[in-house]
Amino acid sequence: MSDNKIIVLEDAQALYVRAAEEIAHVAGEAICMHGEFRICLSGGSTPAAAYELLATRFLLSVDWKEVQFYWGDERCVPPDDPASNYAMANRTMLSRIAPRPDQVHRIQGELPPDQAAQGYEKDLYNLFALAEGDFPRFSLALMGLGDNSHTASLFPHTPSIHETKRLAVAVEVDEPQRHRVSLTAPVFNNAATVLFLVSGDGKAQAVKNIIEGPHDPDQFPAQLIAPTDGDLVWLLDKAAARLLS
Ligand code: 6PG
Repeated sequence: MSDNKIIVLEDAQALYVRAAEEIAHVAGEAICMHGEFRICLSGGSTPAAAYELLATRFLLSVDWKEVQFYWGDERCVPPDDPASNYAMANRTMLSRIAPRPDQVHRIQGELPPDQAAQGYEKDLYNLFALAEGDFPRFSLALMGLGDNSHTASLFPHTPSIHETKRLAVAVEVDEPQRHRVSLTAPVFNNAATVLFLVSGDGKAQAVKNIIEGPHDPDQFPAQLIAPTDGDLVWLLDKAAARLLS
């Protein structure tokens, strides 16, 4: 039975702590039930503090050797580039947790976008032992939200948001990080838990559009994220939730 929840926290710090708690909780359940926790990490700046908390205050709350790390999207830059989502997760969390190499499945942003997308699709087919037409099932997919209502690298009015078969696609957008690779909506929607993490005044209109606005995924791509057999949880701070009725 799927569950949709909106949880509003007092401020950004409370949001990050709650995010780390939620992730540790879902990790414990997944490891108990399935022997492993497959997490799909989000990029951008918002999750950084939650990743740091997981690698410090919550370090003993997760059996890290049973965790498999994936990414929902990546900017097409080398893995040590400041704009790399992998680099952010490595700096804030992985470098402290020190997982084995076979636990870390990053998108190779250093490759040409189409090659990187196809390579990651192949990795997902192998790592999840998928048959043609299947989608990987993450234990938890962490999502962010842009002020233009994009999530992962699924941007308004771009072909990637209409993808229903591919697992990962190359994306070109009018943003500082022009070339990206993104997992597609069917992949996120196959997750057992999808957790949106959204902070700040600047995101309030996008939150309102996604949750209460007219259904128009072409304009509001994050509306595409509706798990088919999983829970959808919105973690918002008061500033991001301020326009919700
Ligand atoms: C990316 C992210 C993207 C991000 C939003 C929010 O690679 O940029 O995956 O979807 O989550 O843009 O970014 P901030 O957290 O920095 O506001």
